[in-house]
Amino acid sequence: MNKIHLEITVNGEARSMMVEGHRSLLDALREEAGLTGTKKGCDVGDCGACTVIVDGRPVNACLMLAVEAQGAEILTIEGLQPDPDTLHPLQEAFMEHGASQCGFCSPGILIMAKCLLDRNPLPSDEEIRFGLSGNICRCTGYTKIFDAIRTAGRRMAAARA
Ligand code: FES
Repeated sequence: MNKIHLEITVNGEARSMMVEGHRSLLDALREEAGLTGTKKGCDVGDCGACTVIVDGRPVNACLMLAVEAQGAEILTIEGLQPDPDTLHPLQEAFMEHGASQCGFCSPGILIMAKCLLDRNPLPSDEEIRFGLSGNICRCTGYTKIFDAIRTAGRRMAAARA
């Protein structure tokens, strides 16, 4: 099968790989780039476990062809931590609140929450619910997840002030 030369930037690092035209961005990230932090839950756009940021916008990587990301800047969960010695405020808050249970949904929720808080660090409960409406936690641990997002948002807002 013919492969296409894909060049993308992932977490600030240039990546070059050969992918089939039908390959999803999710599979390319996990299997070609070795970035398995992004999870495959449903593989049909229902669960949000595969959420990554492509050119500043959250996408379900299972629904995007890898070739559609040609030239794009992508952020995956592996790139959320600003540096090796510093956690992102969302990572800190998730740990403090015990907001990960099985952890399978956590990468997608953390990425989606980052998008939400980057736009609006002090979202209302309704805005958090709407922002996270595409991300399913199969442990149903939403209360702690929302608490952690509120805590991280307050810290991010204070840091910007
Ligand atoms: Fe992509 Fe579920 S794996 S939305």
